[in-house]
Amino acid sequence: MPRVYDSRKRILVTGGAGFLGSHLIDRLLGQGHEVLCADNLFTGTKRNIEHLHSHPRFEFIRHDVTFPLYVEVDEIYNLACPASPIHYQHDPVQTTKTSVHGAINMLGLAKRLKCRILQASTSEVYGDPSVHPQPESYWGNVNPIGTRSCYDEGKRCAETLFFDYHRQHGLEIKVARIFNTYGPRMHPSDGRVVSNFVIQALKGEPITLYGDGSQTRSFCYVDDLIEGFIRLMATPAEITGPINLGNPVEFTMRELAELVIAETKSKSTMTTRPLPQDDPKQRKPDIALAKKHLGWEPKIGLRDGLKSTVAYFRDLDV
Ligand SMILES: NC(=O)c1ccc[n+]([C@@H]2O[C@H](COP(=O)([O-])OP(=O)(O)OC[C@H]3O[C@@H](n4cnc5c(N)ncnc54)[C@H](O)[C@@H]3O)[C@@H](O)[C@H]2O)c1
Repeated sequence: MPRVYDSRKRILVTGGAGFLGSHLIDRLLGQGHEVLCADNLFTGTKRNIEHLHSHPRFEFIRHDVTFPLYVEVDEIYNLACPASPIHYQHDPVQTTKTSVHGAINMLGLAKRLKCRILQASTSEVYGDPSVHPQPESYWGNVNPIGTRSCYDEGKRCAETLFFDYHRQHGLEIKVARIFNTYGPRMHPSDGRVVSNFVIQALKGEPITLYGDGSQTRSFCYVDDLIEGFIRLMATPAEITGPINLGNPVEFTMRELAELVIAETKSKSTMTTRPLPQDDPKQRKPDIALAKKHLGWEPKIGLRDGLKSTVAYFRDLDV
């Protein structure tokens, strides 16, 4: 494909050595952009970006977003934040700082550079929702003092900061509320349900269901999600979000376990444990806004997405 030089941008991806960030970087480099990845490698790994080591348009900087960053870029994707309970509860104060100070630092940078900035927010801003499925207009049902609050409230405050920078300083912002996403390069030991089930199945260990396994989740394949990010960033200035990005097709945890067992051809059985505190019973995105503003909806079904995810974990030999 001929390269269009004047559309090449220099793009900062914070959290770029993580699961979603590394896929986003692959996609941006594929579009001909230059990418600067800033990551403190807390949950991300160099392995996720190893294949880019000698790429002429890729640069890595080990940096903690709770400290200011002085670089020159045309666009910012702010993804830095541990995303799974095991990791974000490891140092909850640092988690809140990463969301809040990280947002302030990246928004400050965007303000100085007068550039667009996209925030990787989360469906966790809806907490344990009393509305189902969740539209962006729903304000959520969040416990402010629980063990998940460092993540949920940190992300909510980051959204507040994004909208105040937009109102107060005219910054061009894009806020994506991401629902459960899975795929290759997920952290193998972060306790997220898809990676947990796949690893347990590959090892032939019993698959752990919390509660009776009837709680539902929707699962978005990573390539679909990244397409949503790219489209959101490219929207006209008046589209700020928040916009839900996720797959609205629901599965119970028991159904997911059955699919994983079938894909891995495992002999694993299922075992049950009590539900953790504040675990939402149901969560499903309403993606009407994403359809309307981005012309976006997920294309990759769970069965297909699980194939490449299982292949990745098989190769990792966990
Ligand atoms: N994967 C999902 O299902 C999902 C769902 C909702 C929201 N999100 C959001 O998307 C973003 C990426 O999530 P992910 O699944 O790729 O998780 P991940 O843990 O793989 O990636 C997060 C990255 O941020 C880095 N990081 C953490 N704290 C940092 C700090 N203080 N400074 C610099 N880098 C830091 C980590 O090292 C890691 O590389 C996160 O903001 C997360 O909250 C993800």
